[in-house]
Amino acid sequence: MNSEPEDKLWVLLTGASGGFGLEFAMQLEALGYNLILHGRDKSRLQLTHNALQHPDKHICMQADLSSRKETETFIDSLASYAIKGLVNNAGFGVWGGFAEKECVAQADVIRVDLLAPVMLGHALIPQLKKNHGFMINVSSLAAETPLPYLATYAAVKAGMTFWSEAIRAEHQGELAIVTLAPGPSPTGFRDVSGAPKGKGNEFSTPAKEVVSASLQTLNMGGGYCVPGWRHKLLWLIQKLTPRFISLALMANYLKK
Ligand SMILES: NC(=O)c1ccc[n+]([C@@H]2O[C@H](COP(=O)([O-])OP(=O)(O)OC[C@H]3O[C@@H](n4cnc5c(N)ncnc54)[C@H](OP(=O)(O)O)[C@@H]3O)[C@@H](O)[C@H]2O)c1
Repeated sequence: MNSEPEDKLWVLLTGASGGFGLEFAMQLEALGYNLILHGRDKSRLQLTHNALQHPDKHICMQADLSSRKETETFIDSLASYAIKGLVNNAGFGVWGGFAEKECVAQADVIRVDLLAPVMLGHALIPQLKKNHGFMINVSSLAAETPLPYLATYAAVKAGMTFWSEAIRAEHQGELAIVTLAPGPSPTGFRDVSGAPKGKGNEFSTPAKEVVSASLQTLNMGGGYCVPGWRHKLLWLIQKLTPRFISLALMANYLKK
């Protein structure tokens, strides 16, 4: 699936095999970037590759980011590429009671959604800086409120937001970093996480709008991005509601 790196500048996009990843791939290609499309599922990744205008400009790489060894091998395989941008997008959640859901799956949420971005970020920041590049970290509005029945996911995304915002401040003026915090959007996320039908749809925002808002924030030098008015409204509600009330409301609302 790979071609040689040559001397181009690349953007590494994790989780390119669908959802926000497909939209990122299309919008980043339109900005002229050469893409390293990462995913786990080869055929879905190929669908993204085929959907691009100039597939010959881009390459695909597979790695299961829940495996530390595969993540390390993946990072090693990037060594010969000059990377200008990193989009930490791959992720999933597990919906349901914490004690009832498998521990392995919930530990994998920590590995894929937080540990892998930290490892990729740490490995790539020196060359992102050298190439006057950028990083986009896909967090979530789930980071803003503890979420019963999505407990591990919300905790991990809180970690992602804190990590991303902290390194953004550390690299102010030398590396543009976007912390993207979307609310519900129609991607594969709900099916993968086992979300009950209909919940959260009131605030649903198209993936296209979510991704373009993050790229606008990038264009302004980086920042914390809550995309679209519905997600901004949800964010405001989260900010204004005392935690004991939101916990009670969410426990009732998110229970299957
Ligand atoms: N959609 C929402 O409502 C929403 C809201 C806020 C934040 N987010 C965040 O947005 C990001 C993208 O998710 P999405 O909504 O676009 O969902 P999606 O359509 O399910 O896409 C998830 C992507 O993550 C990849 N991925 C999952 N597990 C992986 C693993 N073990 N190793 C490598 N890649 C893995 C998937 O690759 P494969 O298919 O190849 O496994 C896929 O490309 C995630 O970080 C998610 O938490 C989503």
